[in-house]
Amino acid sequence: MIIVMYNRLPVYDIFFYKDNKMAGELIKWSDSYNLGLKEIDEQHEYLLVLMNKAWQSIINRSDINIILGLLEELERYTISHFIAEETFMQAAHFPDFPEHKQEHQKFVSYIIKEKERASQTGNISLDLMHFLRDWLVQHILVSDKSYVDYMEKMKSKETSLLGRFFKRLI
Ligand SMILES: [Fe+2]
Repeated sequence: MIIVMYNRLPVYDIFFYKDNKMAGELIKWSDSYNLGLKEIDEQHEYLLVLMNKAWQSIINRSDINIILGLLEELERYTISHFIAEETFMQAAHFPDFPEHKQEHQKFVSYIIKEKERASQTGNISLDLMHFLRDWLVQHILVSDKSYVDYMEKMKSKETSLLGRFFKRLI
């Protein structure tokens, strides 16, 4: 586990992250993350933007309160996005809705727990950001893809209606 200390950065981290290119982005948007639903894809893309912002602030050793603020922003946007997805899935009677919702809840709890831990210790684990990135990518590619496939199967993919629905919620 790599820990960024706020009064001094371990030598290994300085060496590893001194290359700005390496430190610049935690994750890049890939076309393979596109689910084909414009509003959801845009929300996922924005989640990556927020993760990269938090990552950069950690690497740049920003003030702990700035980092906590960015994690808070990530948490808030994630919750809005999940609520939008869940409302839609429920309305469409997606059969795996309870399991999907549980995945969302676990993710939000993890962010909240880590944020609290960071505010108490003043340290942020880079592993936290790696975990959030890996979780999100996996969730998009597997769990979200499965409800999109379901919607398509049920011929519910009416993008203008869906667009209005998500814009109202976010
Ligand atoms: Fe989801």
